[in-house]
Parts: sequence; C-alpha cells; structure tokens
Amino acid sequence: MKNSTVRWRGILSTLAIPAALALLLGAGLVLPPAARAVDQPECAKGKPPNPASNCPDQFAWQTLVKVAQPTASKEALFETWPTDCETFPTDPDPTKCTGPHPDPKHCPVMSEATKGVGPEAVTPRIKQLQPRALQSLAAIRRGASAQLLAIPQVAKCDPNQVVEIVHRNPSAFNFIKEQGLWYTDGLATAFNKSEDVQFPIDAIAVKSNWRPLCKGDDSSHYQLYHAPDGTLYGLIALHVSTKDLPNWFWATFEQEDNLGRCDFLGCHDSFGVTPGQVPPRPILNQTYPPGTLNPALVAMLKPIGAQWTHYRLKGSQVDFVNSSGQPTFLGNSVTEQGFVPGASCITCHDRGTVAQSGSNPYPTVAGLDPEFQSYHGSPRPDWYFFGEQARRYALPLDFLWGMAFRSYPGCAQATPKTCAQACNLQ
Ligand code: HEC
Repeated sequence: MKNSTVRWRGILSTLAIPAALALLLGAGLVLPPAARAVDQPECAKGKPPNPASNCPDQFAWQTLVKVAQPTASKEALFETWPTDCETFPTDPDPTKCTGPHPDPKHCPVMSEATKGVGPEAVTPRIKQLQPRALQSLAAIRRGASAQLLAIPQVAKCDPNQVVEIVHRNPSAFNFIKEQGLWYTDGLATAFNKSEDVQFPIDAIAVKSNWRPLCKGDDSSHYQLYHAPDGTLYGLIALHVSTKDLPNWFWATFEQEDNLGRCDFLGCHDSFGVTPGQVPPRPILNQTYPPGTLNPALVAMLKPIGAQWTHYRLKGSQVDFVNSSGQPTFLGNSVTEQGFVPGASCITCHDRGTVAQSGSNPYPTVAGLDPEFQSYHGSPRPDWYFFGEQARRYALPLDFLWGMAFRSYPGCAQATPKTCAQACNLQ
C-alpha cells in the first residue's frame, strides 16, 4: 500500500512538471529567475583562485579570447580544431586505423591545419556545415521531411538558413580517439567496462551557428566564413564548454543583433557589459540594446579583432542548481531556439550517455523531455539506473553529447540512408 502511494506520487509529480511548465508558457510567463553565479568583487583585482567558479563571466570572456585567437588564415583558432565529421567517421573500422595515413572514411583523422604545421601553411578550411541538430529533430518530430532540412547548394541570402558545426580541441579529440568513443561498438565496450569517462582537464568543445549574411548586414560585425559556393556566412551564436570544472564550465555568446537574444531567460554578464543584467522582454523576437562594453573587456578583445566587440555573453553556468536548490538555466536564442525557457546546458549535457548497445538510451535522442523541452536542475538516478539503482541503464560520457549523437555503427549495420546522410552537406 505504502509503496503504491509512493509510486503514484512519483508519477503525479513527473506529470505535474511538464503540465506546470506548459501552463506557465501558455500564459506567456517565464519560469522564476533562479539566482545566478555572478563574478565575486575580487575578480577585478589580481588573480583570484578558481576563476571558473569565482569569476564565471570574466572566465567566459577569457575562454572566448583563447579559442578565438586569429590564425594566419583569419580563422579563429577553434575553427581549425577537429570537427564532428572528422571525429565520427560514417563507416568506422578500427582495424584500418593503425598505419601512418588512416582513411578518414573509417577513422578519426585530425586535419593538417589542426596539427599546426606552421601559420603560413594554414589555409581556411572548408566547413562541413550541418542543419541545427536539435531543431532538425524537432522539425522531423513535427512531420517535416529530412530533405526540407538539407542545406541548399546554391549561394543565396536567407537569414533563416541557420547552420551549425562542432569543433573539439586536440585534447578532447585525442581522448575520444584513444578511448574508442568514436564508433558504436567502442561505446558499447565503454559501457560494459562501466568505468567513469573523464575527459582531460584541458578539453574544450565549441558549437557554433552561422547564417548567410544579407544586404544590410554589416559584415565587419561578424566573424566570417566564405563558403566555396560564394555564400558569405556570419557567426551568430557560440557555445563553449571547458573541463576547467569537474562538471564542466558552460558559456554562450550571441551576435548583438540577434532577434530575441535575451528572451525568456534574460542576458547576464557581470563582467563585460553595462548593464550587466538585462531582463527578458514580454514581446518576443525584438532586438535588445547592445549596452556598453566595459573597458576591461575592450582591452581583452583588442588582440582578437574588432568583430568580436559585436558579440555578447548571454550567460555562464557552473552548477545544476543554486544554493537554494533552484535550477539554473542557460541557452541561446539560436542553438536552443524552441526550448530556451527550460534550457540548462549542464543538465541536458549530463544526459549525454550511452546504453549497452553503444547508442543513445533515451527516446528523444537529444535528451529532451517528451514535450521537447530541456531537462533542468539536478540529475536524477533514474536517468542512469534501472529501478533499484543496482543495474546501469545509461553510462554518462562526461557531459559531451557528440559521442552518443554523432557516432555510427558502420555502413554494414546502418541503413544506407543514415550512412549517406551524415556529413555529406558541403
Ligand atoms: C536539451 C539539451 C541540450 C541543451 C539545453 C544544450 N545542449 Fe549542447 N548539445 C546537445 C546535444 C544533443 C548535442 C549533440 C548534437 C550536436 O552536435 O549538436 C550538443 C552539443 C554541444 C556541444 C558540442 C560538444 C559535445 O559533444 O557535446 C557543445 C560545446 C554544447 N552542446 C554546448 C552547450 C552549451 C554551452 C549549452 C548551454 C548554453 C548547451 N549546449 C545546451 C544538447 C543540449
């Protein structure tokens, strides 16, 4: 009797959360603002200990400066790092990866640019731009065909044609390669070992969103990419995750003119801009005033180029909840479009896991809830274990989603369609 009451309570509260969320959203309200991590006063003076947790916003900008160092080819450093397509071959075959020149069709292979063969040898890379992963899933769920989501081959200006690309630094790439986390069977082996997956503390991952620039856009306000088909893309949103903290450090930046940039969650930068806290507007999809960059940020950005002064920190995140147990939220208007109100980088990424099969264990693949909203707050044991927590259901992959989301079983096992679709865009 007692047990069944407890079970019912569990079921009711599971149902109540999405229902309450739907009610709040339906009424045009936003979730209560959770207290955020802001920089401590000492951050402005000298070098405080543990900067990622004590000075998260300053640390976010320092990280941007680090990953956006200009290369000889006028790319940002992160653009030279290995991409998803280079890390997760569509037809993986570890037996073919031992020689000096492994075939990128079967093996993870780092490009020459990344290997750092000298700045003069660095030519701009051709980006394998992809449709936005999470929005594509949402669209397919709503019945749109995968074809509709493909990237057009002809050059044209369409500001709604947002594409994305993921890069990981060599440290993160090498870890995925050496641990065999780049293909389905390797992930199944990791699950069976049941050891914690821990990336090295210098690992960094960057997810960037780009859109074709149009007449009226000032190209000097964007980090640019000239695609081979003539389209000029501007960077509009940038996610950065670093292993500086055990549960990673999370930050996201947006180009200042993005419509709805601070919608739902507000914009929070206690270091770089005045005003530092911008509340969300009740009318969605408007531009927000850019504010004024603080002198310390202006000085910091000088070496990486004036285009970066047109980006704003939306916020940084260092924990699942605040000290009162309220969930912390973070998401940007482009990458998390459609699920910003409940977005939490750290919580959704903790669900970046594999099942015994070596693939993603959850029904919605990207770890979104059945309403296609982000999980937030503290992780729950039942996300990872069967009932009594004695048996593992999902092995966490240290907060990176790429392995579960982008790795392949090999063309022999996959449907030919899956094999052909992956990474064939540009
Ligand atoms: C609702 C779930 C969800 C939320 C919220 C979310 N992400 Fe992700 N993220 C994913 C998934 C799924 C992928 C893998 C698919 C892809 O490549 O886009 C991913 C990929 C990434 C990557 C590429 C590295 C990797 O393998 O994980 C980075 C970096 C990243 N996200 C950062 C962030 C940051 C920063 C935030 C918050 C501002 C955030 N994400 C919010 C689900 C989420």
